[in-house]
Amino acid sequence: MHSRIYIIVGASQGLGASLVRECLNRGLKVIGMGRTREEKIGEIEKWRNTGLFNYIQADIGEPSSVDIMKSAVNMCYGSPVCIIFNAAVIEPDVGHDGCLKIDVFKSINRTGVDGLNHVLQVFEKYLTSHGGMLVGISSISAWVPPIGGNKVAYPASKAYLDMALRSLRQLWDRRIHIMIVHLGHIGGAGSWLVP
Ligand SMILES: NC(=O)c1ccc[n+]([C@@H]2O[C@H](COP(=O)([O-])OP(=O)(O)OC[C@H]3O[C@@H](n4cnc5c(N)ncnc54)[C@H](OP(=O)(O)O)[C@@H]3O)[C@@H](O)[C@H]2O)c1
Repeated sequence: MHSRIYIIVGASQGLGASLVRECLNRGLKVIGMGRTREEKIGEIEKWRNTGLFNYIQADIGEPSSVDIMKSAVNMCYGSPVCIIFNAAVIEPDVGHDGCLKIDVFKSINRTGVDGLNHVLQVFEKYLTSHGGMLVGISSISAWVPPIGGNKVAYPASKAYLDMALRSLRQLWDRRIHIMIVHLGHIGGAGSWLVP
């Protein structure tokens, strides 16, 4: 029986990097992904020295990332996988004039919507043949009334993630476990988490 491989999409910093640390501490194999060049990730040497970690530099919003991400599939050798879709661009996309900053709006959707599409394009066949789990790191902003009024694409992209995964849960029946995690604000004093 092959052991499960954890594929963390958005592993270079923040929660994704914490998940890498946590998996490696437990002796689990990890493939991390992100746009950041590996030499810019402070802990990467330590992660690599475990012999359990590989990194793939890819911008999942780019169509060309599909070919790059296929190298992750080649590293799995038939093992079940747990794909954690953690990548997001968390930025306000409403300007002081009350209008959308359309470039920021698009870049958030490039990661949250196009990026998810590309990840599914690469991994669906593998997941359905070898089994495993797909975890979406979502946010309470996918379902609470809009807060603050300065973010449009971010909550919308999380609502897209939620509904895509809920629909896939039905499509894939019980063959692949789907988990959606709705986080509240993380990091810094006064953090709060919603399970
Ligand atoms: N922070 C919060 O308070 C909060 C609250 C609710 C939910 N969440 C959710 O929790 C998750 C982690 O949040 P965080 O605060 O740790 O975010 P973060 O520090 O901004 O990290 C986001 C990760 O996504 C990666 N990423 C972004 N765009 C990408 C792209 N196009 N291609 C590949 N990787 C990409 C980034 O790597 P590169 O820059 O190297 O590409 C980075 O590793 C996110 O999904 C977020 O929506 C966070």
